[in-house]
Amino acid sequence: MSIRESVNHFLELMGRKLMGGGEKAIEKQKKKGKHTARERVEMLLLDPGSFLETDLFVEHSAKDFGMDRKELAGDGVITGYGKVHDRPVAVFAQDFTVAGGSLGKAHAGKIVKIMDGARGAGIPLIGINDSGGARIQEGVESLCGYGDIFFRNTRLSGVVPQISVILGPCAGGAVYSPALTDFVFVVDKISNMFITGPQVIKTVLGEEITQEELGGAMTQSSISGNAHFFARSEKEAFSILKKLLSFLPSNSGEMPPMASAVPPKHELDDHVIPDDRRQAYCVKNVIRGIVDGSDFLEVQEYYARNIIVGFARLNGKPVGIVANQPRVLAGVLDVDASDKAARFIRFCDSFNIPLLTLVDTPGYLPGIDQEHSGVIRHGAKILYAYSEATVPKLTLIMRKAYGGAYIAMCSRHLGADFVASWPTGEIAVMGPEGAANIIFRKEIAAAEDPEACRREKVKEYERKFANPYVAAAKGYVDTIMKPSDTRSTLIKALSLIDHARTGASHGNIPL
Ligand code: HXC
Repeated sequence: MSIRESVNHFLELMGRKLMGGGEKAIEKQKKKGKHTARERVEMLLLDPGSFLETDLFVEHSAKDFGMDRKELAGDGVITGYGKVHDRPVAVFAQDFTVAGGSLGKAHAGKIVKIMDGARGAGIPLIGINDSGGARIQEGVESLCGYGDIFFRNTRLSGVVPQISVILGPCAGGAVYSPALTDFVFVVDKISNMFITGPQVIKTVLGEEITQEELGGAMTQSSISGNAHFFARSEKEAFSILKKLLSFLPSNSGEMPPMASAVPPKHELDDHVIPDDRRQAYCVKNVIRGIVDGSDFLEVQEYYARNIIVGFARLNGKPVGIVANQPRVLAGVLDVDASDKAARFIRFCDSFNIPLLTLVDTPGYLPGIDQEHSGVIRHGAKILYAYSEATVPKLTLIMRKAYGGAYIAMCSRHLGADFVASWPTGEIAVMGPEGAANIIFRKEIAAAEDPEACRREKVKEYERKFANPYVAAAKGYVDTIMKPSDTRSTLIKALSLIDHARTGASHGNIPL
């Protein structure tokens, strides 16, 4: 072959491979409102021209598997490296236009190689999933491929951030790779995740449900909590993903990236807690009054909304925030809230992100359902995660910190480095009403006017116990401050206790 011929052959080959499954398949993909794998990689990588593709020429011969195709371009997955905000990341994007993005031996091999590359370089791994699952024609080789990926997801957990973006079907055992990663993104009307689809469910159990209701983006974000970020479009998903990356170090041996400090858009006012202590308020307003630019990236916004978790900055430094939400179920801790918080705490601890805990909770949720769902086992995960965490831990008691929840929400006893309380803090074994009814039961019953006596006893209990001063007198609370002093105090505390430490040696999944 002459030089000219070999160059032409190369260009023709490249052209074909870059077209993935070809024009018809791309058209079909577009009709579903989906972008191609290549467009998705471009949307992800902020820095134009930074993509360095690997293994474009790897593929199994379609004919070997009796497939009605000439070739499988890139074996149905694009892999490579690129830059986001000038920081390197490793990427794979399954190409649904090539045999439905199904995963066979070569496809899995490419993903495994890029995962090993991410570990070697110490950079985040981003996986874009759009696949019919195990490539049926390749039988056990496909299953082995998944096993190799799950193994690496687990070994990479807590070493480099792993992020999954579900942009199409993700079914069967395939869902376990995203589930093992740190964050899962889903897009409305595009993403679908389930272990067994509606057909199988109907056959086995006789239950009827649509694919969207079973495993669509909102279901996964709200009911199951499998997804951490819900977006309305693919573009929006990538824009949230880039913001998420801006809070994260590239690996567990690095500190998270600093940014310039910006004051909040609004300051906290001293009357942030309602006069009626039983009244709810939105803790997100408190968060926005404390953090840089009032900018808070919430994680799992639609799941277990009685606890809020997410990322923000304090004086330019990323922090992970865990906050009870008094507006939902009074901010109780239950099975789902415990799992949500524990996993987030473990992630922050893995990646050197200090924790800020905002407390206003009446305690663990009582009830038969909770007990039988294992609130003991799940609730223990928060205790475990906070106790295990060695990142700087700041705690602010805003109002209620009752019973076990006082301990669980990053109390001094679980290793908090700095505990502050507002004057409205109530640190007690239980709320004044319940406590007065128990300890003054006989006096109330014997009183001439039991109701007046009960009210008096509740007040007496409030004066004695439902305040932060008893705990502060014993040193369990380091300082009591006005809400309007919160930001400056937390910034000062963080700058003073921000001890050098890198890398906890654990993954993200609380067992
Ligand atoms: C091989 C597959 C495939 C698969 C799709 N294709 N899934 N090829 N193995 N698993 C091919 C189709 O044959 C077709 O090829 C092309 O991809 C596009 O698929 P369509 O069916 O035309 O697309 P669509 O109508 O959008 O339907 C998408 C789909 C459907 C819902 C994903 O394809 C589907 O149900 N596929 C099978 C899903 C499945 O059961 N997978 C196995 C899960 S079990 P042509 O050549 O016609 O373009 C599993 C075990 C993992 O994954 C265990 C890990 C531990």
